[in-house]
Amino acid sequence: MLAPIVMSEITEDHQTVTIRPPELGLGLQGRIQVPGDKSISHRALMLGSIAQGETQIEGLLLGEDPQSTAACFRAMGIEISALNSQQVRVQGLGLGQLQEPSEVLDAGNSGTTLRLMLGILASHPGRFFAITGDRSLRSRPMSRVVDPLGTMGASIWGRKGGTLAPLAVQGKVLRPIHYQSPIASAQVKSCILLAGLMTEGKTTVTEPALSRDHSERMLQAFGAELSVDPETHSVTITGPATLRGQSVVVPGDISSAAFWLVAGAIVPGSNLLIENVGVNPTRTGILEALDLMGAQVALENQRLVAGEPVADLRVQTSALKGCEIQGDLIPRLIDEIPILAVAAVFATGKTTIRDAAELRVKESDRIAVIASQLNRMGATITELPDGLEIIGGTPLVGTDVDSCTDHRIAMSLSIAALNASGATIIHRAEAAAVSYPNFLDTLREICKL
Ligand code: S3P
Repeated sequence: MLAPIVMSEITEDHQTVTIRPPELGLGLQGRIQVPGDKSISHRALMLGSIAQGETQIEGLLLGEDPQSTAACFRAMGIEISALNSQQVRVQGLGLGQLQEPSEVLDAGNSGTTLRLMLGILASHPGRFFAITGDRSLRSRPMSRVVDPLGTMGASIWGRKGGTLAPLAVQGKVLRPIHYQSPIASAQVKSCILLAGLMTEGKTTVTEPALSRDHSERMLQAFGAELSVDPETHSVTITGPATLRGQSVVVPGDISSAAFWLVAGAIVPGSNLLIENVGVNPTRTGILEALDLMGAQVALENQRLVAGEPVADLRVQTSALKGCEIQGDLIPRLIDEIPILAVAAVFATGKTTIRDAAELRVKESDRIAVIASQLNRMGATITELPDGLEIIGGTPLVGTDVDSCTDHRIAMSLSIAALNASGATIIHRAEAAAVSYPNFLDTLREICKL
């Protein structure tokens, strides 16, 4: 009788997961589906809340982050059906109609909830809002959205000069601006565009490189007047807008698919089909990086679903080689760098990741955490101020590691464990539920003997 590959134990609210590699040559097999895209799920709940009439959302991510967004909007008077089925309904009240909440809004672990919502709240004249989040979110920089909103005339207060949550917002009539963002961040861009919805005139955001464009696509689908200049990476919204409820279909999250793409590439004897994955070009940097590393990934059945490109992704075990990842590619794979680091550990030669200092202010300092945890397993990774240098090819040995409460770290370490010798014990593995509640079920499914 073989020991189970995945074992899980809950102690004092924390989950400890023990993972052993599959028997040599058995590989990972099967067809799997990943949960709905996190970025699109947040936006569907938010736009549904501020649009007139009903929005129906199919395939919404039922993870902790969208639950946080739904709870915030419910506290402001929006009816949202339970987030427990494939069909979620939002009864939007129309722009400017959110009620002043009688409780502090809690964005949980979700930067997208907090930063995007700030743009909506700051432009609600006459209403007062207080917002907080968990320990990780309360340490993440908010000046990147508080400063431009301040230039629009918003009144926002918070710890450390308004740079850290908890934040207090006094809604105001704002003025339009042209904001030159110093960072390529979809959260910053979306926050300003959402503030621009209620603001008379043209609000423009220019970013140094293109970040994910789900807000632009969905705002247009809901009826906003929005134009994009691809040459300068600028987006302009004309306010005040009128948004109408829509039917939204959320594709599978490529950021969640990335774990299986790397798992399939590194575990010998694997052949996996990941169905219904969103392949919006602003998100497919992971496919380009894996291609540079020599991974065998094929896009099958490519189609357009409700305005977003979708495909099935097939991955087979591949001989990986090191590569360089930097520049404009970074915003298109920013969330996939922890799992790319795992791929690089099993590649021959050196992988260098640069221009990714943003990773230091994600749910954890992902540069420090992924380097330290994989090094505990025997990897050779050096931290750079803005990235990682990874010397591939040293075998990993299972040991105790820690997610540091970061969902993408928990899942990246689980995939590394599949190719390590012996057992890897992952502490605080429950973090995965932020974006991927049934991650371990899928892992068990594709490892079945
Ligand atoms: C997101 C944008 C990215 C990403 C995050 C989701 C979004 O953050 O890392 O997971 O939905 O807009 P930044 O905008 O800070 O790069």
